[in-house]
Amino acid sequence: MERSSKPVSSSHSIMSELVLPNDTNGLGNLMGGRLLHWMDVCAAISSQRHAGSICVTASVDSVEFHSPILQSEIVTIQSQVNRAFRTSMEIELLVDAENPRTGSKRRCNRAFYTFVSVDSEGKPKVVPLVTPETEEQKVRYEEAERRRDFRLFLAGRLDSDGVQSISDYIDAVKDAHSS
Ligand SMILES: CC(C)(COP(=O)(O)OP(=O)(O)OC[C@H]1O[C@@H](n2cnc3c(N)ncnc32)[C@H](O)[C@@H]1OP(=O)(O)O)[C@@H](O)C(=O)NCCC(=O)NCCS
Repeated sequence: MERSSKPVSSSHSIMSELVLPNDTNGLGNLMGGRLLHWMDVCAAISSQRHAGSICVTASVDSVEFHSPILQSEIVTIQSQVNRAFRTSMEIELLVDAENPRTGSKRRCNRAFYTFVSVDSEGKPKVVPLVTPETEEQKVRYEEAERRRDFRLFLAGRLDSDGVQSISDYIDAVKDAHSS
């Protein structure tokens, strides 16, 4: 049976949270784990909107915290499904912090989560394909396959032999180290 397809826009989700004292560390900055939890929830909403079923977190690509988010700031997380594979989906998340007094906003994080659609017994279930519409969505769609190869390789689920994108990446890293 032919798989149905959905546009990226149908999985787009936006979630805002106010950073309260209980969310912060001793410096008054948002705890990383709390942010990861909010990101997980937002990604779950996107994946479930796309899949039309319960979805679970399979993996989270490395996340770096470049800019601290302070107590009383507003955190806004946006997510969307960049690409669907068979039962898994790559979800991209963008995190912004906003100072409510000045209205100034800054980008704090960009991350990729992988969610898997599951049936009532927790078994992986095939999801609709994604149709990228804008040029930006098309670029993200293409890049998603390369990122998937890397994460499955790192998880020991994919052999590097024959995976061109990984070979290219390894060559690029070798060149960078030797120069
Ligand atoms: C995610 C889970 C359903 C995968 O089950 P599985 O038996 O490994 O199933 P499969 O080998 O058929 O893999 C299913 C999909 O998951 C993907 N997957 C599995 N491990 C992955 C990983 N580490 N990173 C990215 N994708 C992964 C596979 O590539 C496959 O995708 P595809 O169908 O699009 O090709 C299962 O491991 C699970 O239930 N994990 C716990 C999830 C959970 O509770 N998360 C919350 C954290 S506590």
